[in-house]
Amino acid sequence: MTILFRTPQFAEAEEMARLHIACWREAYRGIVPEDALEKANVSERTSMWLQRLADSAVFVLAAYDDDIPVGFIMAGPNRDPAVPLADGQIGVLYILKSHYRLGLGRALMGKAAGWWLGQGGTSLGLGVLSENARAMAFYTRMGGRIIRTGTFNWDGHALSDAIFLFDDLEALTSSSPSK
Ligand SMILES: CC(C)(COP(=O)(O)OP(=O)(O)OC[C@H]1O[C@@H](n2cnc3c(N)ncnc32)[C@H](O)[C@@H]1OP(=O)(O)O)[C@@H](O)C(=O)NCCC(=O)NCCS
Repeated sequence: MTILFRTPQFAEAEEMARLHIACWREAYRGIVPEDALEKANVSERTSMWLQRLADSAVFVLAAYDDDIPVGFIMAGPNRDPAVPLADGQIGVLYILKSHYRLGLGRALMGKAAGWWLGQGGTSLGLGVLSENARAMAFYTRMGGRIIRTGTFNWDGHALSDAIFLFDDLEALTSSSPSK
């Protein structure tokens, strides 16, 4: 296993969209109703990837195992009123189940935090479904604090969520390996 981090190219948008949907289904089966998971659509996701890759305000980084993408993060200025107090936001962070618990989540978060610090940012926020115990444990371990709990509307389904705030970006950055 050789892990490298890089920004995907435009030509890889569809591959990233397929990875995104695969990660989504692995992570949310049993948490999000099946009908909502089945609606995931490759062409709609590919458009979203193309938009994000073209947006210079958004940080996109993927982890590759032997040149196959196995996880990714997107971060940028906080544009979500549901995520208060943070000037930056982690939009998405997903790792394939085959690569859970290998330090990739920690590495991607650390790199996003370093990027946001470099942009003059001071904090990052994100929302997590409360039933996503793996992510709740991970974000707590990464130094996040829950600043609000509430409900997230996923395609008409009301699901409990928690908003995490990370306001020690130096600590997050230094927990990331340099490679
Ligand atoms: C949550 C997620 C990003 C974590 O990434 P990861 O690469 O598996 O996590 P790491 O290996 O970097 O873990 C770092 C630390 O977090 C903690 N942690 C991670 N997973 C954990 C778990 N399942 N239970 C308890 N603690 C956990 C541990 O302290 C771990 O360090 P350790 O392995 O040395 O003990 C990943 O599991 C994932 O993509 N899950 C599915 C998608 C998802 O839920 N994304 C978040 C949506 S908001």
